[in-house]
Amino acid sequence: MTAYLHGFIPEEQQRLMDQAGVLGSLIYPRIDFAGCKKLLEVGSGVGAQTETLLRLFPDLEITCVDYSQSQLDRAKQNLAFACDRVKFVCQDAKELVLDEKYDSVFICWALEHIPNSHLVLEAVKPYLFPNAKLWFTEVFNSSFYFNPPLAGLSKYYLAYNEFQRSLGGNPDIGANLGNLLKRAGYTQIELFHGGFHLDQRNAEDLRNITQYWKGLMKSAGVGMITAGLITEVDLLAMEKDLDLIAEDDNAVFFYHFVQISATV
Ligand SMILES: C[S@@+](CC[C@H](N)C(=O)[O-])C[C@H]1O[C@@H](n2cnc3c(N)ncnc32)[C@H](O)[C@@H]1O
Repeated sequence: MTAYLHGFIPEEQQRLMDQAGVLGSLIYPRIDFAGCKKLLEVGSGVGAQTETLLRLFPDLEITCVDYSQSQLDRAKQNLAFACDRVKFVCQDAKELVLDEKYDSVFICWALEHIPNSHLVLEAVKPYLFPNAKLWFTEVFNSSFYFNPPLAGLSKYYLAYNEFQRSLGGNPDIGANLGNLLKRAGYTQIELFHGGFHLDQRNAEDLRNITQYWKGLMKSAGVGMITAGLITEVDLLAMEKDLDLIAEDDNAVFFYHFVQISATV
């Protein structure tokens, strides 16, 4: 198993559940699995998105694939309310060996972590029925803009993205999803952007998202310190800067992720 940016400690597992709540209203308005019965979720983590999918699409049965048994164990607990509709498979998404076919695929915040992620798109294909619906949501970290300019946050963010790249991930994979899907032979590919453009018009959202961002940034903190990319002081500076943004009269917090739909 390759190293993973956020790690698998219980606090991180809870952060994934919280994150799904914070970002859910941005991720789900477009996603449409109407008419689908069997969905493959790749990089399902602790089942945070699975929970939403099960509630939004009551006809779906979902197979959750993750390469971490501890994530899947936590997912089993989180999804106990729908245990008859969920299966769990502990596998590397690049080397899938499944015994069923699916009419839908969902991936969220996972391809960004997987070196040679095009192999996931290849690995999934043999297990899809014709016309299967795919919905992916992925990061586009270069889209992040904030005001006022703050050196602590800038430094930390550069290091965060460098750390992800050093682990074989791609913090801008969202921007390249269209090319990846086209090259892997998927069709009817459509791209969408989602995210936030916050300022003092929506002060409460601004505060909530800067707090959420702190948690996201911190989740890689220990790994980044261990790798020698930042110090404890840099971590504290990043947190302080995010607090400053929330209070600044000219605050701007902008970030876009990318969603893509496609079929086979
Ligand atoms: C940021 S989490 C996202 C989890 C979930 N999709 C969500 O949005 O809450 C990424 C997940 O991808 C999993 N993962 C990373 N590389 C993987 C691989 N090669 N095969 C399968 N799962 C992988 C990690 O274990 C982790 O649970």
